[in-house]
Amino acid sequence: MKILGIETSCDETSIAIVEDGRNVLINNTISQIELHKEFGGVKPSIAKFAHEEVIDGLIDKTLSDSKLTLEQIDAIAVTIGPGLIISLLVGFKTAKELAKKFNKRLIGVNHLFGHICSTYLHSELEPPFICLLASGGHTQIIDVKNYTEYEVFGTTLDDACGEAFDKIGRLLGLPYPGGPNLEILAKDGNPEAFKLPEAKVRSYDFSFSGLKTAVLRLVQSLPQDYNKADLAASFQENVTNTLVKKIISAAKDKNAKKIVVAGGVSANKTLRRKLEEMSNIPVFMPGLKYCTDNAAMIASAGYLLKDIHQDIETLDVFAKDPSSTKLKTLFKVSS
Ligand code: KG4
Ligand code: ZN
Repeated sequence: MKILGIETSCDETSIAIVEDGRNVLINNTISQIELHKEFGGVKPSIAKFAHEEVIDGLIDKTLSDSKLTLEQIDAIAVTIGPGLIISLLVGFKTAKELAKKFNKRLIGVNHLFGHICSTYLHSELEPPFICLLASGGHTQIIDVKNYTEYEVFGTTLDDACGEAFDKIGRLLGLPYPGGPNLEILAKDGNPEAFKLPEAKVRSYDFSFSGLKTAVLRLVQSLPQDYNKADLAASFQENVTNTLVKKIISAAKDKNAKKIVVAGGVSANKTLRRKLEEMSNIPVFMPGLKYCTDNAAMIASAGYLLKDIHQDIETLDVFAKDPSSTKLKTLFKVSS
């Protein structure tokens, strides 16, 4: 079964075709990073226009790259939230029109569920497992019970992990997005150079605001020519230690047999290395290009949701009201 995936939840326009949920035939992504750089973060109105400008051409290119026509596609999967509503609507509107025109099933996908599914791409991973989802908007520990049922049992109390990377990146004078640029800078730094406070949140929840404030105070107390690479490395060391400790202890408490890490921050090589070194159960991570937002993960999620009833009116409700609680029942998400 071939599914066309459409992802426009933030600043990446991505179109993919995935076969049977795992085999990526093609994944094309146009990033808007250059457009948002001067604002130091995503500017929603620019994101919307940029998606509108490229989406139709990118769908045509993806079909022509894969030598397939829309007639040969079995269903269309599209991200319906969470994300920037005006960006999401560009993808949703396009998907709805295509589904209608070519008489294809339209499957709405929760973006976070999509991130979990990114780990199925080109892999043999099967649930159940414990998943750490660390992205720009979320930091969650999720008990993935089977392919469509999951329970969120840990979350961030303040900033999301990727958001903390982005804010500290900005403080260090790095271009947007802070996460990957901070990782590059940290390569030349000493992770032991600065002692930063360890987040003291019991249970499975996360908090990054105390660390953020500590870094800010530290920078204010340092001479102007302080070693930025050392601070980047020390910050990265602190955050990755917290993430690794939490997910390993959650896996132990839940008696999990596998750990999965997904979301943009899962591209961080220090995090990946530490988890592999410290976990005594198998660790699965998406390929690097599927960590950050992409449509292949949405098409994979669509494949898993293909037998769950959704109707277009319900999807329309989400498009108009992204806070609708019906999202939870539709995707069997409990939190
Ligand atoms: O999953 P994603 O692409 O978008 C959301 O759903 O939010 O995640 C983007 C986040 C950004 O905050 C970005 O800075 C962070 O993931 N990120 C990283 C790395 N690559 C992306 N953070 C740390 N190290 C990286 N290599
Ligand atoms: Zn994402």
